[in-house]
Amino acid sequence: KARASSIAYGKLILNGEHAVVFDRPALAVPINSLQTKVFITEQSRKGIYLKSKYFFGNLEDCKNILPSLYALIKEFLIYIENPQANFQVNIESSIPEASGLGSSAAVAWSLANALNRYFGTSLNKEELYRFANISEEIVHTNPSGLDLITSSSATPVIFQKNKKAAKLQVASDLKGFIVIATTPKHGLTKNAVMQVAKSAQMHPFLYENYFNQIENITTNAIEHLTSGNLSAFGNDLTENQKVLAKMHLSTPKIDELLTLARNNGSLGAKITGSGLGGSIFALTENYPDAVKLEQLFCQAAANFTHIIALKEYTN
Ligand code: MEV
Repeated sequence: KARASSIAYGKLILNGEHAVVFDRPALAVPINSLQTKVFITEQSRKGIYLKSKYFFGNLEDCKNILPSLYALIKEFLIYIENPQANFQVNIESSIPEASGLGSSAAVAWSLANALNRYFGTSLNKEELYRFANISEEIVHTNPSGLDLITSSSATPVIFQKNKKAAKLQVASDLKGFIVIATTPKHGLTKNAVMQVAKSAQMHPFLYENYFNQIENITTNAIEHLTSGNLSAFGNDLTENQKVLAKMHLSTPKIDELLTLARNNGSLGAKITGSGLGGSIFALTENYPDAVKLEQLFCQAAANFTHIIALKEYTN
């Protein structure tokens, strides 16, 4: 029986979310320890079946439950002119959903890639992004593409819309740890992006100014990671958060977690992803500080926490 599979990673935006939708650069890393896996196996029974945490059954019955994945698979089948195929798609993921950590992009990318492998269609990365983007457009309305690029990357990325993504060369002796904490409220990217778009329309000069400030911070952060200046990078995170807060993307819970980070030895902390819920992360110099902070985040009722060593990204 024919079979194929693919994986994709969680993503962490270090700097530049939201501004990236307005053509500014952003900086993001894949989270290799959080993954989505898609397995496709040929079936003797007729039809297409989908199995995920939320749904198990015939593809036709998931149209309303998982419209984004439904649309992606349907469009792929139309493309290969083979609507008679009989197979089952299994989706497994350790990335928490709607938390700003790229779960939807990881599913979309690994699904498009697994379909490509299963049908031997030899699509290149650009073409696969276009298929994965069918799903992302339904989830997010106006995705910048940053999430898809990062969740399919093996290295940190510098991304700008309509430009080829560049690799970020992190200093080889860079130490430091990132502690992620997810607030109980889902971060709905669609709503956050819409809120920013409306505000930018109402106050174009102010928001241009915010986006320019974020662009400057992102440029500084790239330099500080390249040269290995951890405390300066921490400061970039704090500065970035100040702008995101002015854009009304914080919530009381986000502010509570950020204050905990600030008062407990973190070098800097900010929202990651869309905000209005979802996740934050804090930077620490050493592992014990990271663990202490993770404990405090748990005590403050974080939904999910995760520690990443920056060393993972050093070559
Ligand atoms: C969401 O992960 C990141 C945003 O910048 C939206 C996007 O880039 O499409 C908020």
